[in-house]
Amino acid sequence: MSATTSTEVRPATADAISAAVLLLADGMPVAVPTETVYGLAADARNAEAVARIYAAKGRPSFNPLIVHVTGLEMAKTLGEFSPEAQRLAEAHWPGPLTLVIPARADNGIADIVTAGLETIAVRCPAHPVMRALVEAVGPLAAPSANASGQISPTLAAHVAKSLDGRIPLVLDAGPAKRGIESTIVAATGDGLRLLRPGPVQIEGVVEAGSDKIEAPGQLSSHYAPSKPLRLDAVSAREGEVLIGYGDVEGQITLGKDPVSAAARLFAALHEADAAPEPCIAVAPVPGDGLAAAIRDRLQRAAAPHD
Ligand code: TXA
Ligand code: MG
Repeated sequence: MSATTSTEVRPATADAISAAVLLLADGMPVAVPTETVYGLAADARNAEAVARIYAAKGRPSFNPLIVHVTGLEMAKTLGEFSPEAQRLAEAHWPGPLTLVIPARADNGIADIVTAGLETIAVRCPAHPVMRALVEAVGPLAAPSANASGQISPTLAAHVAKSLDGRIPLVLDAGPAKRGIESTIVAATGDGLRLLRPGPVQIEGVVEAGSDKIEAPGQLSSHYAPSKPLRLDAVSAREGEVLIGYGDVEGQITLGKDPVSAAARLFAALHEADAAPEPCIAVAPVPGDGLAAAIRDRLQRAAAPHD
């Protein structure tokens, strides 16, 4: 998406919600009120749509995103609930609690949403507008609707100021009631771990101590292909499968622009890893914003394995 999209702010009437459903179904990100903060939502099963979230926010790297669901039934199609996780969901949903659980392989969620982790963050929001959209479109990935590095928006006006010209629509439903992001609890192994404190207080949860992904190392290793990877390649050398971008043509391509490159990145790495050539080369991906996030990911994939 270009930085010249015109951004409309509309009261979240039934008409405006219908317009948002059409945009979401068309792969566009839309800013949506939730009870915590305004989120920038996109269809979690559409990799390009999710890539547009990163493009609009200018995130410097791919952090995993929270997937919003209508309830436990939908959440169970996305990940595995331990009895403890189920108990928390039943006690606090709909509401400002996010659960990080093992992802189901058949969940249909784009790889870019989980940034290559084997876990998935799911949350069932209480806000009627976000709920209506998830009901109509399906699971929606949504980080806070602010440009990267800025504070989370609790008013439509905050979103408009931060993302003006980068997204087509902001649904305005007044101030977000809670004003801080959801509590995040991981239920991925033994016991529960608090990854981010928030509006919901949970008894007996071990503090993991930060608003960070659990094992940052996982991010660098999980999608590292098993083969050596050479960056900034303009042509393939002997024994290399080339992943092209822009004007550099390869056997595999990331496309012509950062949004398509982000959407295809993980699949391209998998495909190159499965190719007969013993080595991988990747074309340069110049630029800032989303392009920089792609380079960050590629550098991790190129780093020696530990
Ligand atoms: O209240 C909220 O949670 C808001 C509204 C829009 O729902 N969303 C939000 O999203 O705060 P975001 O992207 O700003 O924060 C998501 C957090 C990040 O800290 C990310 O690292 C963590 O969730 N996260 C997502 N998936 C994860 C995973 N699989 N494992 C560990 N942490 C994860
Ligand atoms: Mg945020």
